[in-house]
Amino acid sequence: MTAFPDTFLWGTATAAYQVEGAWNEDGRGPSIWDTFSHTPGLVTNGDTGDVACDHYHRLEEDLDILSALGVGAYRFSISWPRVQPGGQGPVNRAGVDFYSRLVDGLLARDIAPVATLYHWDLPQELEDAGGWPVRDTALRFAEYARLMGEALGDRVATWITLNEPWCSAYLGYASGVHAPARTEPAAALAAVHHLNLGHGLAVQALRSTAARDARMSVTLNLHHVRGVSERDADAVRRADALSNRAFLGPMLEGAYPRDLIADTASVTDWSFVLDGDEAAACQPLDVLGVNYYNPTLVRQWDGASARETADGHQDGAASPWIACEDVEFVKQPGPYTEMGWNIDETGLTELLVRLHRDYPDLPLMITENGAAFPDEVDADGRIRDERRVDYLNRHLTAVTEAITAGADVRGYFVWSLMDNFEWAHGYAKRFGIVRVDHDTQLRTWKDSAHWYRDVVAANKLPG
Ligand code: FCB
Repeated sequence: MTAFPDTFLWGTATAAYQVEGAWNEDGRGPSIWDTFSHTPGLVTNGDTGDVACDHYHRLEEDLDILSALGVGAYRFSISWPRVQPGGQGPVNRAGVDFYSRLVDGLLARDIAPVATLYHWDLPQELEDAGGWPVRDTALRFAEYARLMGEALGDRVATWITLNEPWCSAYLGYASGVHAPARTEPAAALAAVHHLNLGHGLAVQALRSTAARDARMSVTLNLHHVRGVSERDADAVRRADALSNRAFLGPMLEGAYPRDLIADTASVTDWSFVLDGDEAAACQPLDVLGVNYYNPTLVRQWDGASARETADGHQDGAASPWIACEDVEFVKQPGPYTEMGWNIDETGLTELLVRLHRDYPDLPLMITENGAAFPDEVDADGRIRDERRVDYLNRHLTAVTEAITAGADVRGYFVWSLMDNFEWAHGYAKRFGIVRVDHDTQLRTWKDSAHWYRDVVAANKLPG
């Protein structure tokens, strides 16, 4: 079956710091990603998001591209320091006006706004006060959510509180490959908790505003963890607890998994979890956002041979895999995207089916999926990115298989609408279905954009 349900929502996704630019305009405050990218040596080629895709100034042009693609929804993120420069206090009216124009521009084109409140750009002032490892950040986040609910709540269709809190906590505070570049495992686990708490408080805050009738969601980059053999079941369990159930537990079940607490006991006693926090984190959601790029393969380490760490992260103190010293991350067979990520869409089907089994009443939405390839512009100006088309086709087929198996999947968002600032990789990795020339800001549709437009129009895959 290659057709999708009639109400299936097709979209594309971006994030504020990756596309907007205008980093110091109209009262925007600095975020941890400004600090990170302006620190020599942390981002490939010294790239920064200062200009990015200049989306802040090219809003109308980009909205017209979305319209021409025919998508029913657009997932963007709100830059917290643009609308509340220091992360507390009154809103910055000019910043809010930008998102108000964005939302109105989408609605005028019949495109549903899907707004992510936090796609990693914490106001620097809040990091200076301790960042996500401190409780106050969760409270500040809820207040910011309330302000946005008041400003945009009557027009945003779906609110996503956090994007990939796994990355915020573990890459930001444990491996340090993302902002704020800290390598403190105990602080990373405290960040996990304050992200979970902030999520729940933000949903409550949104529901106290005009956003009360909108759909509430969170986006997780769940890891589809497989073991090399049945002997690796405990390694699978441990990686699954740290990467998936650390968020699913509090957010959807109102409790941290006991095995996670036990696994990490040498790192923290979790005393930052106060009475009532887990219940506060667990708010009813309308849809769960799932970001998927590739699966994860693990093996129990025998303690003797060289330990594999093939997930691209360093071994030792600066691993995002806290308390997983006995777990090997095993290289998976190709083909690979330019990120070095293996292409295996079967993980997406299996992940969606698992989520439906575990949370049968919670609809699912793929809020990111896509691939980086070193696209070439041919002499005729065309960008024949057939590997990206094949990646998208495979993963959309995997979505239809999950739907056939009973999973309630409501929509799919390509990452990304356009080439943008890929975090520590800068502009060196291109995920867009629309090419951006980073010198001229010229936008050019790749073959994948034409292909996606046809899929969206037909509501089914070709062939
Ligand atoms: C995800 C991020 C997104 C983008 C893709 C490639 O982890 O949410 O911003 O960078 O990866």
